[in-house]
Amino acid sequence: MKNKAIILAIASCITLALTSCSISGSKNDISDNNELNDNITIGFSQVGAESDWRTANSKSMKSTFTEEKGYNLFFNDGQQKQENQIAAIRDFIQQKVDYIVLAPIIEKGWDEVLQEAKDAGIPVIIVDRMVDVEDNTLYTSYVGSDFQLAAEKSAEWLNQYLIAKNIANANIVNIQGNIGSTAQIKRTKELQNACSNNSNMTLLAEETGEFTRAKGKEIMEEFLLKYDNINVVWCENDNEAFGAIEAIEQSGKKVGMDIENGDIMILSFDAVSAGLSLVMKNKIALDTECNPLHGPIVEYVIRKIEEGEIPNRFIYVDDGLFAIDKTVESVKVRENEYGINIVTPEIIDSRGY
Ligand code: AHR
Repeated sequence: MKNKAIILAIASCITLALTSCSISGSKNDISDNNELNDNITIGFSQVGAESDWRTANSKSMKSTFTEEKGYNLFFNDGQQKQENQIAAIRDFIQQKVDYIVLAPIIEKGWDEVLQEAKDAGIPVIIVDRMVDVEDNTLYTSYVGSDFQLAAEKSAEWLNQYLIAKNIANANIVNIQGNIGSTAQIKRTKELQNACSNNSNMTLLAEETGEFTRAKGKEIMEEFLLKYDNINVVWCENDNEAFGAIEAIEQSGKKVGMDIENGDIMILSFDAVSAGLSLVMKNKIALDTECNPLHGPIVEYVIRKIEEGEIPNRFIYVDDGLFAIDKTVESVKVRENEYGINIVTPEIIDSRGY
């Protein structure tokens, strides 16, 4: 037992040292490491570290794929650049990992590198955002949110709220996510659809806040200078909402739900604990969840493949709707009814991210 612990500790040191050089192009680090144990090697290309959600997602992967559980995880932070992610995948292929897990920054531009992974016989699991590839056999499974459904629910909540309160003019600005990412594409599209289909909603402007607090604040400041009639802000993630709230309050305006009397109402996505705390304070009206805990589901997919089975192609996580106001109790989307979760301190405490 003691010996095994020593071997694991040595392997862990070597893994750490080799992870950093694997990305800079060393050729034989992972295979060297394989000689130390029979662990399953996984190369994970992560988008970056732009949001609380992303931090929780990375943590979920790292805490699932541990050496104690039989894995060697090679984690690469793409730092918001597709070219970094492509280079990391090529490196994983060269190192002959057993599986590649990719959280793609944007949907397009993956055909070539995923074909290389397929040619090398390495299964690819896509997490979080989707890839838009010609040949869908380039990846084995997708694990993540049904972004379209979540955005439809959110837009329908807004519509129901406006109807219930008899509000004829919602003048909306959209702080978008990274352009070309699934989260941005679907959230933007569903807001645009809602604005074209409902006469009570007008989309004044949309601009990317790159899923960060700083950029979210900057874009909100610009919107406030340009439009004096904004009463709804659709933020495509919580970090942008944090920045937008700061900008609104610094401009002397009030964040809240009483939009007939001058409040600016915020809708957001993710439902991280800091976001839910703002829901409790009535500063975010609706926070639509985007569940970041993908690690155990990716592990389930890998175990299926290891057992010679074919895993499900699309595995969607559950994404709830969180509010404090009870005006809208549920929304009906695609014939299904979705209840609104009323945020409590217990929900926030148990969130863990
Ligand atoms: O793709 C998921 C999105 O990316 C989350 O909503 C956001 O917070 C993250 O950065």
